[in-house]
Amino acid sequence: MPEQKLKTSIAILGCGDVGSTLAYTLILNPVCSEVILVDPKTALLEAQVRDLSDATYRGNTGTRVRAGTHKDAGQADIVVITAGAKQKPGESRLSLLSRNLHILSSIFSAMQPISPHTILLLVANPVDILTYFARKLSGLPESQVIGTGTSLDSARLRGILATKADVSPSSIMAYVLGEHGDSQFIAWSSATIGVTPLSMALPSSTDPTFRAEIASHTRGAAGSIIAAKGCTAYGIGNMAASICKYIMYDQLTVRPLSFYQPELGCCLSMPAIIGRKGITRVMPIELDEREKRELEDCANGLRAVIEGAEKELEA
Ligand code: 2OP
Repeated sequence: MPEQKLKTSIAILGCGDVGSTLAYTLILNPVCSEVILVDPKTALLEAQVRDLSDATYRGNTGTRVRAGTHKDAGQADIVVITAGAKQKPGESRLSLLSRNLHILSSIFSAMQPISPHTILLLVANPVDILTYFARKLSGLPESQVIGTGTSLDSARLRGILATKADVSPSSIMAYVLGEHGDSQFIAWSSATIGVTPLSMALPSSTDPTFRAEIASHTRGAAGSIIAAKGCTAYGIGNMAASICKYIMYDQLTVRPLSFYQPELGCCLSMPAIIGRKGITRVMPIELDEREKRELEDCANGLRAVIEGAEKELEA
């Protein structure tokens, strides 16, 4: 009789700004019984575990925090990969690829064997490229290898549209799709406020200047925060915690997430249903001609980066 699994666990690889913010969010909004932190910087790891554990002693959470190894992580229900170099002010996410791809490769060597039921959530950048390689390096099914992708960009888009329309962000359905990076695009043609097309609810949103301003704000949001404080953490940490909750509670929620698109030959964000088994269903979206071109340009750019990285990995 296989040993009954009583504990649910989320392993976080990397306990810097993003990893520790994610861990804290998981403690305050209990999603699992155990958060396992893994980081080669042992002094930081031990300090984060102790500091985060102090937030669990008040009795308002059933979640415990402990230090673990990559082997422990390989048996967790969810593994969140935040480990890697972070953007410096003015640096693009893609410029982190070489350093972070080597870190990813060493992580998977150390994690094996990985439980066949584990869901991988990539956060480290460039997240779409790292999600593509995590598929290959982990050997897990594509549905179980997911990147946060443009879920945070889409939240930022909802935030600015909510201000313009004087409505709650939760009433706005609007997606940023494609790359979590410079080639992302906004699916304006399918955006709504409630069940009202955005073009009717906020007529100014049909103006090209309005759209360019919103797209620039969304695309540049991380860069402006990083320039001022050195990193982003709360937005991405909270988003990653939400995705962990969708998975752990099998909430079957539709979100724009990065995952492998066979017809495009790369990982980028499109709407999908996410639950305990990972991506359970891709949700087709109507794109207008301009959006179709933007998707194609985005995929072409990501495939070119993948080809270069594959050569580097083989070298
Ligand atoms: C963000 O968009 C840096 O990718 C991270 O906040």
